[in-house]
Amino acid sequence: MSESMEGMKRTHMCAEVTEKFASQRVTVMGWVNKRRDLGQLIFISLRDRSGLVQGVIDENSAKPEVFSKVSNVRGEFVVAFSGEVILRTPGNINEDMETGKIEIAIDEFRVLSEADVPPFQVADKGVKEDLRLKYRYIDLRRPEMQKNFILRHNVCKSVRDYLSNNGFLEVETPILTKSTPEGARDYLVPSRVYPGNFYALPQSPQQFKQMLMISGFDKYFQIVKCFRDEDLRADRQPEFTQIDIEMSFVNEEDVIEMNEGLVKTVLKDVAGVELATPLPRITFKEAMERYGSDKPDIRFGMELNNITDMVSDMDFPVFKEVVGLGGSVRGINAIGCAKYSRKQIDSLVEFVKTYGAKGLVWISLAENGEIKSSATKFFTDEKMSEIIAAFDANPGDLILICAGVNDIVFDSLGALRCEIAKREEIAKDDDYKLLWVTDFPLLEWSEEDDRFYARHHPFTSPKEEDMDKLDKAPEAVRAKAYDLVANGYELAGGSLRIYQNEMQQKMFEMLGFTKESAQERFGYFLEAFKYGTPPHGGIAYGLDRLVMLLAGVNAIRDVIAFPKVKDASCPLTDSPGEVDQMQLDELGLRVEKMVGRSESADEN
Ligand code: AMO
Repeated sequence: MSESMEGMKRTHMCAEVTEKFASQRVTVMGWVNKRRDLGQLIFISLRDRSGLVQGVIDENSAKPEVFSKVSNVRGEFVVAFSGEVILRTPGNINEDMETGKIEIAIDEFRVLSEADVPPFQVADKGVKEDLRLKYRYIDLRRPEMQKNFILRHNVCKSVRDYLSNNGFLEVETPILTKSTPEGARDYLVPSRVYPGNFYALPQSPQQFKQMLMISGFDKYFQIVKCFRDEDLRADRQPEFTQIDIEMSFVNEEDVIEMNEGLVKTVLKDVAGVELATPLPRITFKEAMERYGSDKPDIRFGMELNNITDMVSDMDFPVFKEVVGLGGSVRGINAIGCAKYSRKQIDSLVEFVKTYGAKGLVWISLAENGEIKSSATKFFTDEKMSEIIAAFDANPGDLILICAGVNDIVFDSLGALRCEIAKREEIAKDDDYKLLWVTDFPLLEWSEEDDRFYARHHPFTSPKEEDMDKLDKAPEAVRAKAYDLVANGYELAGGSLRIYQNEMQQKMFEMLGFTKESAQERFGYFLEAFKYGTPPHGGIAYGLDRLVMLLAGVNAIRDVIAFPKVKDASCPLTDSPGEVDQMQLDELGLRVEKMVGRSESADEN
């Protein structure tokens, strides 16, 4: 039987009740974390968002009806109790608890709400994620989860304070809108008023923030939900949150400087970390050459080494073939990894195969000077020494070489260096290494679709000095775009925008739109450019990724209260789900029945 709170008022959060309240009467409310029954003595450890406090009741001195209520509660019952704060005897002090020096001597007790036996114990660390997400409201009771959300709140507060102090206005933009191309599929919402017509949920507020610049808002930001129907990963959700920023009358330096101030402030405010600025910058080209990735983790070295020229004269089919086809041969030196067994090396070979590589050639330099390789018979002694010297390898090191088309070699080795760093535990979670990657290519050629795509989005400005290549060599045009990378994650991406109508039309043309189709899709936007557009630029952060990094967790699911799982479904609400025929009729929709999951879910 549950009771009312009437007449009882909470005086403290659990963790606030420390020894400074000794001899005072307090009232706390929360969830029963644990009941420990020693017969005449019962201990209740009570949990709320702040932490734990222990209540105690002694049958000898308690009113029988109060003692009986306490003896009947179970874990997760919601209860309220009052009593005097008493100091524990020295032998009973729990140094691990903030409230470990006191207990509350319960004299009044109410069961506010009973609880069924939960599907898992809040304190249990080994619960499967499926179950945790189905009962997310219980999972979120865990102190480590609550810590993540307190952190998330603090990050948002710090961001809002910093941007407000620097003249930014937070403005909301629509959720029901028109397609905003950011490279993913749109989520569509059918219109009842215009049957057969759809809104798209925004992949980002990109066009709206640019129109706010045209409106003269000068400096805008928004902490905003974005929606992208794309394959999920640990750092990707179909709905996620951006810290979206746009500024007028700025160049790249202005945007970068303002954002360095922002990350510096946030890291200081929420993690007490002093970030040295200006942050390092490297170009996209250099990032690929050195790290095989446009979001390099620079907490460790293991940089890529291009040995294509060195091996081009070798009579080794694996190398010869790719050199002939214009590919490259590159490798990394996994320092201290000669200790790896054949099985461990094989697992690295399997690892790179998932990135499209055919395999790895390895050279292992044992501590005793012995050199082993997967391709010994193809290396002369001189060639072997030349390669070892090129990698600056010493006894104990393992050289791993990949040959193939550039994209595959970069992807494979880029991922391999991170995988080895993970296995060797080289990089620390709280070592924040941020850098800017600049000078991205404006366009990306798709063999599959036989057309260019905007690498960032179609509103990004080309670099002035590359304008003359727009017609002759579009693939060589660089963009005024910059990404902020942290510990191997793309934390934020942005650019200076095209602000002349003609240039924007040209861009659409290069992306394969006819004048008519561009007009049909982006007419309102092109129209807006005609009425006085300031030069402008901006950036957007993945808030979830930023919080994930600061929380030291490996998936953004852990910093999103109600995330989706791999197939983009929500195990808690069981969405997406079917709707009533009446709703479909109203929307003028007919659903073809599909067996099981949809085609796109199968692809994920
Ligand atoms: P972009 O597409 O690079 O740029 O997105 C900005 C940042 O948002 C985060 N992000 C995601 N986080 C979680 N799940 C996802 N599915 C996901 N997709 C992106 C990343 C990324 O760096 N309008 C432009 C910004 C601009 O030009 O100002 C944009 O959206 O951290």
